[in-house]
Amino acid sequence: MSEADFKLGQSTGTWETNSVAAATSILNDRNLRHYDLTGSFQRMADIIGRDFPNIRRIVAIVPLFQHGDTHVLRRRQMAEKLAQAARPLREMTVAECARAADRLCEPGPVEIMSEVVWPMTNRILSVVSGTTRRVDVLPLLDGSPGLNKYRKLDQDIAAGLAELAERFPEETEDQIGVRLASSLIAGQALASTLGVNLLEQLRRADDTPLGALDWSDDFTSTGVLSAERLPANGDPLVLWPGAQPVKSVIADLTCFLTEDPDANRTGMFGLGAHRCLGAGLSQTIWRQLVSQLRGRTARVTFVESPPLPSIGIGLPSIIRIHVANDQL
Ligand code: HEM
Repeated sequence: MSEADFKLGQSTGTWETNSVAAATSILNDRNLRHYDLTGSFQRMADIIGRDFPNIRRIVAIVPLFQHGDTHVLRRRQMAEKLAQAARPLREMTVAECARAADRLCEPGPVEIMSEVVWPMTNRILSVVSGTTRRVDVLPLLDGSPGLNKYRKLDQDIAAGLAELAERFPEETEDQIGVRLASSLIAGQALASTLGVNLLEQLRRADDTPLGALDWSDDFTSTGVLSAERLPANGDPLVLWPGAQPVKSVIADLTCFLTEDPDANRTGMFGLGAHRCLGAGLSQTIWRQLVSQLRGRTARVTFVESPPLPSIGIGLPSIIRIHVANDQL
């Protein structure tokens, strides 16, 4: 790691890197850890007297926001939930990808995010979570957070937990929490990555047969753009002798998706103790989807895709295409 690999983020006062070597070393560094989101919600409750108990409850279950033994426990719970669901997940993935490809071939206008990506993501993940309900954290990531947005998220989580408790009366509160936490951490990451990879090819479509687009078996873009790490001991972070001390460092995850043979493409799913538990599932879904799309002759034309402003997640809000009607 050297100074040449980093630049100081002007707005954040944080070191940022898009070097594969530096990002790899940061994500594998056991002395660096995630932002303490669990503690931060507790502090918010203590300091300003506004508690968001349902957000707090879910945040305390998501492995990404845990450290040490709690992280090990939460990661194991989530991994077990995924392993138990392996077979139905496979079956659901096959069915959903065929259904998605069929929808992309129906003549007329298609809005891919709301008609294809979100429904397929929600249905596939419902095998793990037990609900197709989407609890949306994206409003918190648009750069203008406000208490109302936290309140809305807190209410959405409460409604999700209540629905699950009714559906699975034999499960403990903790088990119900793991279900909702799994859909929350997985949904946005998966939908955004499916969206940006579809968009990359569909942008080129101009009365082009779907199967003639250049569908790669691997993701070539990622919706999860970066990962942030802070020093575990709470001291200011000094990355190399003489470096300006900062609060945190941000690794650009898109740096792993290069033509560089040393770049590890699976690095876009994170590395080290917090590496993604859904990487295999996500890659299987994408491969299944492109294998369906490759065989399709429907002719499509790209219409528009305005981006959604968000921090850390690259999510197309809308992808409009038009499918030609061969019968006319
Ligand atoms: C293409 C879609 C996905 C991408 C790009 C992605 C990316 C990531 C990344 C980069 C991390 C690490 C973040 C960090 O270290 O700061 C992560 C963690 C995680 N991901 Fe994913 N993810 C995706 C889909 C999923 C799915 C489908 C699931 C579950 C079904 C999932 C479950 C998790 C979990 C549980 C963690 C936290 C692991 C831990 O903290 O120990 N992800 N993901």
